[in-house]
Amino acid sequence: MFKVLITDPISDKGIELLTREPDIEVDNQPDISYEELLEIVKDYDAIITRSRTPVTAELIDRGEHLKVIGRAGVGVDNVDIERASLRGILVVNTPGANTIGATELTISHMLNVLRNAHIAHQSILEGRWDRKKFMGRELYGKTLGIIGLGNIGSQVAIRAKAFGMKVLAYDPYIPREKADRLGVKLLDSLHEMLRQVDMLTIHAPLTHETRNMITRREFEIMKDGAVLINCARGGIVNEEDLLWALESGKLSGVGLDVFSKEPPSMEFIEKLKRFPNVSLSPHIGANTYESQENVAVIVAQQVIKALRGQTVEYV
Ligand code: MLT
Repeated sequence: MFKVLITDPISDKGIELLTREPDIEVDNQPDISYEELLEIVKDYDAIITRSRTPVTAELIDRGEHLKVIGRAGVGVDNVDIERASLRGILVVNTPGANTIGATELTISHMLNVLRNAHIAHQSILEGRWDRKKFMGRELYGKTLGIIGLGNIGSQVAIRAKAFGMKVLAYDPYIPREKADRLGVKLLDSLHEMLRQVDMLTIHAPLTHETRNMITRREFEIMKDGAVLINCARGGIVNEEDLLWALESGKLSGVGLDVFSKEPPSMEFIEKLKRFPNVSLSPHIGANTYESQENVAVIVAQQVIKALRGQTVEYV
């Protein structure tokens, strides 16, 4: 029997799939603390996580029977991949499974920042009728810059074009033909793109290369009054410099689903609250029923295959 521990909330569809298998025993502990996990991980052949669980070197070392780590999502920045590889443990994820969820949240932050519908809603609930306060701007005719033209970046590009935006992208890893097919202008230099955009959106993983990719230097290059949307990973944008950009008027608005530390400090949130045109959400890009079903089913299939020594698609 293979023992699989689920350490974060995933859709029942994935859990059912695992439970159906005669050679798999499932232990679903979606709220388990890191300390508890350290104690019990030695008993399992596989763990399935989302971004809540830090799969550290210490955890991996304690998992003496671990054969596979399933990441129900795209980003594997919470998993110490190097340590897992050293120990011969397979890490599988689910690229593409939550693309639409993340894409649609990005578009809603874009619209929120420009139209402030979320703040207008709150003001009515508080008994105000402030029509003058809510003058917004339109996406139509603006230039969007996308960092990362992978699954999510591409879908954002398609939707942005439907809104009548001009779309530029910076992604050193994708072929020019892909950008051409999407009707997106691919630029070789990030700074060259930043100079031209009214709105910047990030859709890249957090890696050594992308950590602190957007700092004061990059903001300074951008047009005055530009907008930044980050539904990818905190840590790609330097948060101190982001506050500087809002204070200096370099940025006129920001939409964030992700933070360098999650949950973020109240001090950071209090500072963000001082600015208009700020739209925040608690890392919910993948939180749609559709995306979560896809992610759970795919990660379960991957883990089952990996445990049985069969070929897996997403490593
Ligand atoms: C992902 O990397 O897929 C997302 O951040 C989703 C998540 O972990 O919930």
